[in-house]
Amino acid sequence: MSRLIVALDVATADEAAEVVDRLAPLGVWFKIGYEALFGYGDAIRAKVEALGVNVFLDAKLHDIPRTVEVAVRALVRPGIRIISVHALGGNDMLQSAVIAATERARELEIAPPEIFAVTLLTSIAPEDLRELGLLGGPGENVMRLAALARDARCAGVICSANEVRDLKAFFGSSFAALCPGIRPAGTAAGDQKRVATPRDAVEAGADYLVVGRPILEAADPLAATREILAEMEGAARVR
Ligand code: C5P
Repeated sequence: MSRLIVALDVATADEAAEVVDRLAPLGVWFKIGYEALFGYGDAIRAKVEALGVNVFLDAKLHDIPRTVEVAVRALVRPGIRIISVHALGGNDMLQSAVIAATERARELEIAPPEIFAVTLLTSIAPEDLRELGLLGGPGENVMRLAALARDARCAGVICSANEVRDLKAFFGSSFAALCPGIRPAGTAAGDQKRVATPRDAVEAGADYLVVGRPILEAADPLAATREILAEMEGAARVR
């Protein structure tokens, strides 16, 4: 079954704590990304750890292998289920992340977080690829970077829902897909370019859906979350 991860992209620790308190009873996971991590990382990590909720730590690490290794070691904590790195860091860097997560979790005697590799950011449009020097369209680039991630033993990749069918067909259902760029019908895309509705993402086979602004900026975030969960459940039944 697909899971919903709510991005804690809010300005203060108090606001993030309020989002967690309101939405955790619905069984959703939470994403700690740059805004939370760099703004008030210690406070929010202590909060989610105390509550025992599941967390995707969207660190998007991209550096030389040793630097990524020490960063991953520092990020492993109870409740951190997924940590992200950039596939463009290359095979050695990805492997270092996977090994560091496993070894640090063993030292702490906790379940190891899974390492997910960002393929192409969902804010990258097809026409942006050429200026980045990347050949082919989003689909080809995502598949190439996913192969790198799979070979380095990452648990899955981060991509747009539009690429999930091909990904699953090629790599199999156990190679996980985590999809941001989720936009319920009628919500603004903002800076996201490769977007999909919750229904489309679940029908395509996405394992995790990350949603930020459509929930955080809704008049009633609790109701918006419930609606997305209902749409996901409906789609799971027809899948
Ligand atoms: O507000 P919105 O729903 O667009 O938030 C999406 C979240 O997912 C943001 O926190 C963004 O950093 C993150 N993300 C993304 N694209 C990726 C990886 C992560 O949008 N490829």
